[in-house]
Amino acid sequence: MSNPLLEVKDLHVEFDTYDGTAQVINGIDLIVERGETVAIVGESGCGKSVTVKTILGLLPEADISQGEILYKGENLLELSDAKRHARRGKEMSMIMQNPMSAINPVFTVGEQMLDVLKWQGQHRVGITDWVRDKFRSEAELRERAIDMLEQVDISAPERVFESYPVELSGGMRQRVLIAIALLLEPDFLIADEPGTALDVTTEANILELLDDIVEEHDTSVLYITHDLGVAREISDQLNVMYAGEIVETAPTETLFEDPQHPYTRGLLESIPQLSRGIGAGIPGKLPDYTDPPTGCRFADRCPHAETECREVVPHLRRTEPEHAAACHLFEGDPHLDRHQDAVTEFPYIGPPPWQADTDETEVDVR
Ligand SMILES: Nc1ncnc2c1ncn2[C@@H]1O[C@H](COP(=O)(O)OP(=O)(O)OP(=O)(O)O)[C@@H](O)[C@H]1O
Ligand code: SF4
Ligand SMILES: [Mg+2]
Repeated sequence: MSNPLLEVKDLHVEFDTYDGTAQVINGIDLIVERGETVAIVGESGCGKSVTVKTILGLLPEADISQGEILYKGENLLELSDAKRHARRGKEMSMIMQNPMSAINPVFTVGEQMLDVLKWQGQHRVGITDWVRDKFRSEAELRERAIDMLEQVDISAPERVFESYPVELSGGMRQRVLIAIALLLEPDFLIADEPGTALDVTTEANILELLDDIVEEHDTSVLYITHDLGVAREISDQLNVMYAGEIVETAPTETLFEDPQHPYTRGLLESIPQLSRGIGAGIPGKLPDYTDPPTGCRFADRCPHAETECREVVPHLRRTEPEHAAACHLFEGDPHLDRHQDAVTEFPYIGPPPWQADTDETEVDVR
């Protein structure tokens, strides 16, 4: 039986805004198995960062109206703040989206690394521990930090250790962030678009590096990206997200061989225009989260939308043993247990028109 490291079940996240309640995350499910890299792909504003920040408990203003976040079988949403904080430091770590804002500009890289090594994961440190740590290990900790900078391929680690963030290039800062995230050898790493702020070559190097380190430390990774090419390179399992919902999930290669959801297909077809941002090649925009559609959230942009799509929510259906899509063009059993009873409500409007036209389903993105 599978024993996932992380299992998110039916997560709903809302925000109070001036325009009303924004229902951003609308019942998502995710599984990260041990040692596996899982990617979430979707256009800007679809809820990727809200999802991962909710997992880490970094959004105090969010209302988690429903759901469970099971980490090693324990629901993180039921833990006290202190326990959650401890988990975040020692077992889970995150590389933030923006390296400029994620590092504190007023401390040197070394000071920040030592700070993580000394305090992170310990909500309250007794004075005895503090004294012991201070006198026992300053040199040891420094050695460990410099060793980690070396592991992320920083060629002059001592110099970088003494530097302020402003003295480093963007690529170097991102490497420092990765080093910081890996300092405590977390079991679980969340990387939220770690390449966005970098040029293409640096991004490719960082990806390769991350891949190596993850393999070496057997870390499980949840990787957020708006770049399908990157997701294909790095992940074992791919989740396509649209407007706060997972609309398609499958092992990465399966998904590229047979993309099913009209949104996924739109993303793949718009790849040549990716410099304009993912999703830009699909006419229309994300729905208003304070007034989301009743049925399929993608209906206003979908070339195959029928009346039923606007009326009934398309739950994820299992279209192949390990492949599920949330779209009325597909038949199949409900992918999630909680939708078993709703099966009679699923209108089937398929088959997908492209299957009738051609047997060629693979869309090459590279
Ligand atoms: N604290 C907040 N209060 C209200 N709305 C929020 C808050 N944080 C995020 N949102 C909204 O939630 C939606 C999803 O945001 P999120 O940052 O998760 O997008 P994303 O998929 O990470 O996009 P990007 O690729 O640009 O980083 C957006 O409409 C955003 O405005
Ligand atoms: S359910 Fe309907 S509107 Fe939604 S993606 Fe499928 S065909 Fe398009
Ligand atoms: Mg984001």
